[in-house]
Amino acid sequence: MSGWLFLNILVTSALPYVNNVPHLGNIIGCVLSADVYARYGRLRGWNVLYVCGTDEYGTATENKAREEGLTPQQICDKYHTVHASIYQWFQVDFDYFGRTTTEKQTQIAQNIFWRLHERGFLLEDTVEQLRCEMCQRFLADRFVEGTCPFCAYPEARGDQCDKCGKLINAVELQEPKCKVCNQTPVVRSSKHLFLDLPKLEAPLEQWLEKSMGSGDWTANAKQITRSWLRDGLKPRCITRDLKWGTPVPHPDFSDKVFYVWFDAPIGYLSITANYTDQWEKWWKNPEQVELYNFMAKDNVPFHSVVFPCSLLGAQDNYSLVNHLVATEYLNYEDTKFSKSRGVGVFGDMAKDTGIPSDVWRFYLLYLRPEGQDSAFSWADMAIKNNSELLNNLGNFINRAGMFVSKFFENCVPAMDLQPEDKRLLALVGWELKQYISLMDKVKIRDSLKCILNISRLGNQYIQVNEPWKKIKGGDTDRQRAGTVTGVSVNIACLLSVMLLPYMPTVCQTIREQLNAPPTVTATMLQGTGNFVCCLPAGHHIGVVSPLFQKLEADQIEDLKKRFGGQQVKPSPFSAVTTGGQTWPCGEKVRALKGQKAEKAVIAVEVDKLLDLKKQLALAEGKNQEPDQTKVSSPALFLCHQGNSLLARNGNRLHLCFIYIYI
Ligand code: 2FM
Ligand code: ZN
Repeated sequence: MSGWLFLNILVTSALPYVNNVPHLGNIIGCVLSADVYARYGRLRGWNVLYVCGTDEYGTATENKAREEGLTPQQICDKYHTVHASIYQWFQVDFDYFGRTTTEKQTQIAQNIFWRLHERGFLLEDTVEQLRCEMCQRFLADRFVEGTCPFCAYPEARGDQCDKCGKLINAVELQEPKCKVCNQTPVVRSSKHLFLDLPKLEAPLEQWLEKSMGSGDWTANAKQITRSWLRDGLKPRCITRDLKWGTPVPHPDFSDKVFYVWFDAPIGYLSITANYTDQWEKWWKNPEQVELYNFMAKDNVPFHSVVFPCSLLGAQDNYSLVNHLVATEYLNYEDTKFSKSRGVGVFGDMAKDTGIPSDVWRFYLLYLRPEGQDSAFSWADMAIKNNSELLNNLGNFINRAGMFVSKFFENCVPAMDLQPEDKRLLALVGWELKQYISLMDKVKIRDSLKCILNISRLGNQYIQVNEPWKKIKGGDTDRQRAGTVTGVSVNIACLLSVMLLPYMPTVCQTIREQLNAPPTVTATMLQGTGNFVCCLPAGHHIGVVSPLFQKLEADQIEDLKKRFGGQQVKPSPFSAVTTGGQTWPCGEKVRALKGQKAEKAVIAVEVDKLLDLKKQLALAEGKNQEPDQTKVSSPALFLCHQGNSLLARNGNRLHLCFIYIYI
């Protein structure tokens, strides 16, 4: 996004269905990703509005109400509160979290409907449907079962046969049965309204070309949209024979409601209208608003094709999506999240694990299925907590602060920057620029890695310079200890700013510990991305204490058992899942060697293996930092930063053989 031009940033995350408790996959796919981007935008000083809310109408809500013996309204009230409190626990900072069952929703949806009607974008057609007289309702496809007309499988669903896989039209099922009461439904004709998508195809394509060309659409969003267009658009039914929905205002359809997928995205507008009377400044102002829609990939066609067609057809200068950000799927261990089988972690359970909300946020964002599916794994969560948070990030920030308090009586020492310090600050500045440019493009998972790279650089810098030894030396050494400490604590301060979108509580804690002035964000992030010193010599810091706690192996085993995931025991000889990817240890390197691949290519894979070994050791509570203490020369250290493996290649390959073959 060209952030310098557009300052009004409207962020939405897909409105979660109200009839369910969201699981971790839902949370990372929508609300949490959007939250990070919204927080980042606020940090940059943009005018951000982040709206979301529960998607409350439709068959699913009616059924849930039946299941729980409540009215649909009661179900909505109950689960709206459940959703709101889960997102609050995850510190999702909506400007407004609303719902779709409001008067504003009816007004805006009906207005869009009439405008489409007046402009000739709606069609009428008669549809044959199954109706259960006992339940007094038309049956949605998934609420009817019968014998498959193709293979005679007796438990075929209303939309598809699970045995032969063929798609079925529900009225063609033999001996159909209502899944609620087991009675035989009857075929009834019913008149419905359709959005004439073929008629809107040309303006849609024109708009899509522009939006995809200038905006940051994820690759999957582009690809799914193109495949919909390639198959040609067909009219889509926008009405349903239901009670729980926004009423269709047309007198010929007075017993019907809008189909939930026509209605739900209008929720973005009505939720904003419930938040502010100025809602049209956001939603009818495409020249001055940049709209970001966050969702999982199954929602893409509704946001890129169907809803834009409703808005284009209504011809009221609506703001259409500029950046469609879709995630892939998050799996749970080596399976899928399943409410019915009780597998996985659901939003309301996360707080019962005793793991802080910020750590959950960190791990979910570290795993964000950005570009490919990823998998939540308890073992990997422990690894990432113990290695990245505790040993890397937390260790650096804590050491930097402790040196100030222990060696310099809480007062940032004077800094006399040497070429080595300047080189470090240049590397940090480079990571900061990367972070900004990745965040601008909503590469949330990738930009998190920049934060971790900075603290890794910081740890190496401290390790090489050993301020705890130099402070005991003569004047020159003591001055050097001061410079290293001052530089480190300033980098820690920068990290607190960069962390804010990801770990808001930890960010706040660091700021309190460093007694950082409120202006740090403006100074550190709103400029050109160059590193700026914010804690000058003489600045007094607060009380420093550790930021993270180790996740112990037995704690993780307990959690795994409680949440029903498959046991994945990492072993150096089998596949290891880490960062959402599965690595067959050793095999890749062996294959590359067999193919006589270039040394540099092998070295990259070897590097990955060593990293895995280190992470495994850390997760098992062993201390495995063989290289760090050996790196004593600044020249060698800088060589590592330049991403050259040459300086320690021999050492690494040696370790690698042990790892693979023993
Ligand atoms: O898939 C879902 O959970 C839908 N409730 C998303 C709706 S997004 C928007 F259109 F409201
Ligand atoms: Zn029935």
